Parts: sequence; structure tokens; C-alpha cells
Amino acid sequence: MDIKTERLYGKSYDVDKEITVTAGATQAIFTIITAFLRKDDEVIIFKPAYDCYEPAIELVGAKSVPIQLESPNFSVDWEVVKNSITPQTKMMIINSPHNPSGTIWSAADMQKLSELLEGTNILLLSDEVYEHIIFDGEQHQSASMFPKLAERAFIVSSFGKTFHITGWKLGYVVAPSALMVEFRKVHQFNVFSVHNPSQMGLAEYLKNEANYLCLPSFYQQKRDLFLAALKTSRFNIKPTQGTFFQLLEYQDISQENDVDFSQRLVKEFGIASIPISVFNTQESNMNVLRFCFAKTDETLLKAAELLCKI
Ligand SMILES: Cc1ncc(COP(=O)(O)O)c(C=O)c1O
Repeated sequence: MDIKTERLYGKSYDVDKEITVTAGATQAIFTIITAFLRKDDEVIIFKPAYDCYEPAIELVGAKSVPIQLESPNFSVDWEVVKNSITPQTKMMIINSPHNPSGTIWSAADMQKLSELLEGTNILLLSDEVYEHIIFDGEQHQSASMFPKLAERAFIVSSFGKTFHITGWKLGYVVAPSALMVEFRKVHQFNVFSVHNPSQMGLAEYLKNEANYLCLPSFYQQKRDLFLAALKTSRFNIKPTQGTFFQLLEYQDISQENDVDFSQRLVKEFGIASIPISVFNTQESNMNVLRFCFAKTDETLLKAAELLCKI
């Protein structure tokens, strides 16, 4: 992993002191939060947000400070972020490529973030589990590429996402040694060490970088197949920039809220999706559903055919 991070992002991490293998990204995130956050600490998160952040924050008595991003671009207003920082802000959680919106943060976004956090003690949790699933020739902007971010960042990766092995529950986290020492004080007593044979298998598999460098074209082909087959549908579509999720906006089809609409799609058409409201502040409805295109081509074409009939 040290070689992979150095080759891709130009930053080397000490194998013994700065990299820890975890039972999936979820355990890494939970451990970071429990190791560093205490009662009344504030954590800035961006909504819609992946669902494992807030329960962990709540559990330790800390407070999430959500910044709601708006469809279809989900872009960040850095003035809002600046105004959300208080003396209690202990951590910020970011996620690019982003689940559920499929948007990515640019180098300019990361630079803005770097400037904003410089001179503060705010820790950064950078959830980069979709780092290898990015399209249209774009480059993943890892927090490890920005020295002022890397010095305060835990960067979380998932073999589940990268190698299509979600059920194996394997991931890893990198961070400067002073931060990793604290992480391991918790990791030591809730995991101790992750299943060794699967670590050995993955170490072998990682030797061939083609196994992860092929992912952008592998998934872009699936995204493009799905979108081409949806051309005659009545959904409004903005091609996803990263992750294996595609948002479809249905304002021209129905006035139902997204939960009702997604349930009707399951019952009447046999197609499952996730309503975006469940990831939003106060579950606000954006008339948008999230579809997963990590499927066989046959399934994608069948799904698109059904969606075109709605
Ligand atoms: C943004 C994000 N972070 C973390 C995870 C958890 O990853 P893992 O399966 O490795 O625990 C997921 C899984 O869906 C995710 O989408």
C-alpha cells in the first residue's frame, strides 16, 4: 500500500507506523471517530452523506455540523464552510468521489480546503473508498497530495470497493505516525488485527497494479452503457463523475417524494434504487434516486429498458 500511495499520489507512508489494515472502511471510520472525538466536539460533514458517519459521531456525544450541498452539482460554497468552523470544530469529514452524488472534488476544492484548515487543529477524515472509480480522464485528488492536508489527515481506503469484495470487509487507513499512534490505541482493543490470510492474498494481488488501474475504464463502460440505454427515458441525467452510482432526477415523471417513488419502482417495475433524501439534512427531497451500475451488462440493459417505460 505504501508503494501504491507513493506511485499514485506522490506521498510515502511508513509501513510500520503510518498504515493500518482495517475490517473495511467502516471500521476505520468508526475507530478514527472514537479515538479522537469527545462530548460536544463539532464535526463538519457534507450532506448528502454516507450513512456511517453520524451514528459514530452521536455515539461519542459529539455533534455533527451538516453542510447541505444541492443537486445537480453538489458543489461546495467555501464561504459557508468557513462560517461553519467554530472553536469546537475538531474534525471535518470529506468524501470524493462522493457517495451518493457521484461528484468529485477538484484540485481547486482541495486547495481551498487546505487554505481553510491551515493554522487550525482540525483533523481531516478523507473517505477515499472510491479513489479508483473515476471517469472521463479525471484524476483523483487525494488528501495525501496536499501537504497541509496530509499532515492532519486520515485517508480511508476500501478493498471492498476496489476489488469487488465488499463481503470480505477489508480496508486500510493511512495517517501521519503521531495520529496513527492514537488510532491504534482504539484499534488494538476492538479489532487487534484483521484476518491474516485475506491480507496475504490481497498483498499478492496488489503487486499487479493493473488490477486497480483498470477500474476507471471498467466502470466507465458500464456507466456509458447504462446511460446510452436510458437515452429515450424521461429522467434528467447528469453523468456521474466517480463511484458506481448514477443519479436520476424524475421531476418530469412524478410529483411523488423520492421514498414513495422508489418504493413504487420496486413494486411495479422490479427495480431497486436508493432515495437521496435518506442521506440529506432533515431528509429533504430532491426528486433524485441513486442507481448502482456495478452490475452485469445484461442487468443494466434490462433495468434501462424498464426505466424507459416509466
Ligand atoms: C462513502 C463510503 N465510505 C465507506 C464505505 C464503507 O466501506 P467498507 O465496505 O469497506 O466498510 C462505503 C460503502 O458503501 C461508502 O460508500
